[in-house]
Amino acid sequence: MVAFPTETVYGLGADATSDPAVARVFAAKGRPRFDPLIVHVKNSSMAAVDTEFNDKAAVLASAFWPGPLTLVLKRKAGSRISQLVSGGLETLAVRAPNHPIAQELIDMAGCPIAAPSANPFGRISPTLARHVVDALGSNIDMIIDGGACPVGIESTVVDVTGAFPAILRPGGISAEALEAIVGPFATPTKTSALHSPGTLQRHYSPVRSLRLNAHAALPGETLIGFGPDAPADSLNLSPNGDLTEAAANLFAFLHAADRHDGDGIAVMPIPEAGLGRAINDRLRRAAARNDSESDPGDDWNDERGPQAPCILPDIEEY
Ligand code: TXA
Ligand code: MG
Repeated sequence: MVAFPTETVYGLGADATSDPAVARVFAAKGRPRFDPLIVHVKNSSMAAVDTEFNDKAAVLASAFWPGPLTLVLKRKAGSRISQLVSGGLETLAVRAPNHPIAQELIDMAGCPIAAPSANPFGRISPTLARHVVDALGSNIDMIIDGGACPVGIESTVVDVTGAFPAILRPGGISAEALEAIVGPFATPTKTSALHSPGTLQRHYSPVRSLRLNAHAALPGETLIGFGPDAPADSLNLSPNGDLTEAAANLFAFLHAADRHDGDGIAVMPIPEAGLGRAINDRLRRAAARNDSESDPGDDWNDERGPQAPCILPDIEEY
């Protein structure tokens, strides 16, 4: 089990074909075992070994791989990927990361690597090796320090098993960029959350409270700003109002603001377009913790309906 940099965030990787290795990842993160992991591969041909890699997947992969795009596909009969990885679903999420260290790790390991983001379940994602050391250090065997993750926000998760592709999680590739390649996407429905078990209402939570759409800090608050109008003493995600730069800084600034003393964190409005959608998605989930103080594992999105089927062995046995 090794934490490693990708272009999006640090991942906590293990041999995707090994039940005990994958179980250790769930245990180290404190992640519910019905929340499936992404399988990291070198390229489309490696992805096609374990998934029914259809035409839509091929088109999207040739446009965006290696890169921050995860494709949800039907698992191939006879695939060696551990059932724990897919949380009892008949699909697998695969992605080819665009980072030289991640690519070399897949080469050296000689197997697909299952990896969630390397943060404790429900907490802020890591974009620096130090974030991983601080949050998970004693729980994991090794951390490869590759510096800051350039994209800074997780991959876009796209389900390509249906007639129209559907975005299950906004991320490093914008909806606009995806639609330019494959045309219209399925409209998210109330039931679509069922297909994306990891889409929790509350996630990415700082310890301090988080207030969104703020224009100034209240006494005791740390302000995360955006754009040329942000106060000079704020942590400015992008003084020029550049959403790519803001995405790259988001988690590092949340980690930094969370280390300040005081009453809470306030964040200025971010435009809801392009990468702004992924940034706002993470901020809304991070702020949602204020509504409930229960354990993150209990806080499922009400729209999900009943929990996804779980046919897995108890990971405690490992
Ligand atoms: O950028 C990223 O995607 C990072 C880096 C490390 O690659 N990884 C990451 O993994 O964000 P994680 O585990 O934090 O988020 C994976 C998301 C979850 O929302 C999960 O529910 C969803 O992908 N997912 C995984 N397998 C799925 C499947 N078979 N069907 C639907 N959603 C799936
Ligand atoms: Mg995560």
